[in-house]
Amino acid sequence: MSGKLMQAIQYDSYGGGPAALKHVEVPVPSPKKDEVLLKLEATSLNPIDWKIKKGALRPIFPRKFPHIPGTDVAGEVVEVGTEVENFKPGDRVVAELGHLNGGGLAEYAVAKKNLTVARPAEVSAAEGAGLLVSGITAHQALTQHGGIKLDGSGHQKNILITAASGGVGLYAVQLAKLGNTHVTATCGARNIELVKSLGADEVLDYKTPEGAALKSPSGKRYDVVLHCATGISWSTFEPNLSETGKVIDITPGTSSMMTFALKKLTFSKKQLVPILTVSPSIENLDYLVKLVKEGKLQTIIDSKHPLRKAEDAWEKSIDGHATGKIIVEP
Ligand SMILES: NC(=O)c1ccc[n+]([C@@H]2O[C@H](COP(=O)([O-])OP(=O)(O)OC[C@H]3O[C@@H](n4cnc5c(N)ncnc54)[C@H](OP(=O)(O)O)[C@@H]3O)[C@@H](O)[C@H]2O)c1
Repeated sequence: MSGKLMQAIQYDSYGGGPAALKHVEVPVPSPKKDEVLLKLEATSLNPIDWKIKKGALRPIFPRKFPHIPGTDVAGEVVEVGTEVENFKPGDRVVAELGHLNGGGLAEYAVAKKNLTVARPAEVSAAEGAGLLVSGITAHQALTQHGGIKLDGSGHQKNILITAASGGVGLYAVQLAKLGNTHVTATCGARNIELVKSLGADEVLDYKTPEGAALKSPSGKRYDVVLHCATGISWSTFEPNLSETGKVIDITPGTSSMMTFALKKLTFSKKQLVPILTVSPSIENLDYLVKLVKEGKLQTIIDSKHPLRKAEDAWEKSIDGHATGKIIVEP
């Protein structure tokens, strides 16, 4: 592929909205020895993509400008590095590119072999691409931090999932129900039936007083809260927690970090767990892909956008009202 050009979306500074994304023609990247070159079929966006562009993680991400954003991809292998033995041209895969390099809003991208898994025919490119950051975050938060066993073993736990209609929340509801759990969820009125259909036992409209107070309609106290929304204070969570209840905050701000420190220092039984980033592993990714293949986990697609209109997808993500995953297709 050396010398071939491709269409891509890139930016060369922090700040600016969707209009600051530039359509460019750049060389198709070459895979290093431990990488595969993918002809992309679908890329899923996450709020962190536009937060990085805003400068929320400067100076770590992006590593350099210009930067092609997008990390969660599905595509076809077209070339492999010299140390890649488990993939060959023609294989369909999903891969996590990572925020350091990005590269997902393009026609081709290179992925590390150790963050690439096979995509069976039963899993569409969009369904596979949706799984990466969102699915891994839901999985890691529930299993590692929430102590939920997805094989259904273990004591029953009462779980609250806020923003259950979002990219992370919709996977979280379904994964939590694979475990021995009672799930209360919050979302907007328009998504209540969807969230129930994916397994939530009770759903609160976050714009009602009961929803804002996070009160379980059946009077449950939560053992685990997977907090996928923002702007809810500890004082709202606290009265709804069981004696050893834990709030897992995946968008921790200053007040969450202070609560985390305070609860630790005072040996509080109720805890706040801030999650800044997740570490994808090939095992977890493979597990999630298999769940989709077996029909035990669904990727709900909010919308699909062609690469030539990637700014519409970007704007939709910034808007914060997606139901499930926003997909860009070359
Ligand atoms: N730490 C990590 O590694 C990590 C990983 C992934 C994501 N995150 C963060 O987690 C957050 C969620 O990500 P996401 O991809 O799921 O976001 P998303 O898809 O943009 O979430 C949008 C959904 O959230 C709902 N929502 C917004 N505010 C709500 C509230 N107060 N109560 C209930 N529902 C609410 C919206 O419903 P309406 O449209 O009805 O308002 C919409 O359906 C983001 O801040 C993201 O940056 C962190």
